[in-house]
Amino acid sequence: MVWLASRNTRIDTENAFRVGPLIAATEARGQSVVRLNFGEPDFPVPAPIVATLKQALDGGATRYCDPQGTPELRQAIATHVGSRRGFEVDPATVVVFPGGKPAIGLSQQVYCEPGDEVIYPSPGFPIYESFIRYVGAVPVPLHLDAGNGFSFDADALADLITPRTRMIYLNFPSNPTGGVASRAQIERLAAVIDARCGPDVRIFSDEIYEDILFDGAEHFSIASLPSMRSRTVIASGFSKSFAWTGGRVGYAVLPNREEAECFRRLNINYFSCVPPYNQSAAITALESAEVWQAVSEMTRTFERRRDLVCDGVAALDGFTVQRPGGAFYLFPGIEGVCDALDLIGFHANLPDELRLKTSPSGLFQLFALDAHGVAVLDRRAFGQIGADGHHYLRLSIAAADETLLEGIAALKNASSDVAGLKRFLQDGLWEAML
Ligand SMILES: Cc1ncc(COP(=O)(O)O)c(C=O)c1O
Repeated sequence: MVWLASRNTRIDTENAFRVGPLIAATEARGQSVVRLNFGEPDFPVPAPIVATLKQALDGGATRYCDPQGTPELRQAIATHVGSRRGFEVDPATVVVFPGGKPAIGLSQQVYCEPGDEVIYPSPGFPIYESFIRYVGAVPVPLHLDAGNGFSFDADALADLITPRTRMIYLNFPSNPTGGVASRAQIERLAAVIDARCGPDVRIFSDEIYEDILFDGAEHFSIASLPSMRSRTVIASGFSKSFAWTGGRVGYAVLPNREEAECFRRLNINYFSCVPPYNQSAAITALESAEVWQAVSEMTRTFERRRDLVCDGVAALDGFTVQRPGGAFYLFPGIEGVCDALDLIGFHANLPDELRLKTSPSGLFQLFALDAHGVAVLDRRAFGQIGADGHHYLRLSIAAADETLLEGIAALKNASSDVAGLKRFLQDGLWEAML
């Protein structure tokens, strides 16, 4: 065994990336795979963004630049974020990162002392939970319940806040549930935070799906409430709205310049700067009317697919579905499937070293990929603490209609293939997939 510092055992991963090698292995056996596992829009990057990228490269924007983000991009972000949320944003409080993800873990490094408590939604984006123990803080999941539409409930939040609470993660529209909070719900959360938290408690408001909203809903940020502004980190980015996951540009707006300076220093220590050609193109993304037209068309397509997939999945035996209000995921319950296939009993009887690595829905996920060629993610991929007994899958709807219908057909076949599942579980090859 190589020697590694103990903190390596305290960080987890994002299973969406772990599934890649399993898909490759399945395809290598000759089984084609319908990919409904990845949180990546299946649209091209809008043309004006690509044009600016090329121009910036041709123009030599290939050197080190401001570690906090170029002044031009920070100004564009300040204008964009401020005008949408109804207050003025100082560009010196904006920090640019390589994607939306780094701000999540870096904020725990900036704000948390060992023993501090961090509240986050579960199911939620896995990186919230993944990092907390790495910085010595204590994860406090707020469990979202299908029974009340997976909402981040104000009373549940009130019960979790203690004098050690240091950060609260919010994410609307949400990954993986597609849940959207109304202004009234956000006001209730703010009232609880106002009443229970000291001024040093930080809200990390992950708004990366802010543009992907359905049914005429409008994005409302908790930072738009005056009492929340001075304690909220607004985080967003360019991966989802602009179908530009490979560009690796995200940002946070910090409550004040001092806090922004801490992130700037971490940027210098970790990666020096975000490539300047990508930052130039990010300005185009925010400022081009043609780009916003493309974002709106993409969102309407997701909305139409949401209906297609909801109707298709709701018709499957053993699946229950909530209609998401935003993002591009469906998070159906599959307790009925796990029951009918006796996966709950099978999982309960596994030896500890296997049982703790998976779940009934996790076993179904592996079987659906291996035998029926459909890649999805299970509930545990979105926060492991307290996930036991919750049987869900996440399906990404970022795929063409035919692909989505093929995926639904494959899930239907998998959920009724008792003999195939028996063979799959008996031959034991799934153990190597964990
Ligand atoms: C809620 C949420 N926050 C942040 C991110 C990270 O985005 P990026 O790919 O820009 O790092 C994702 C990506 O899936 C996400 O779902």
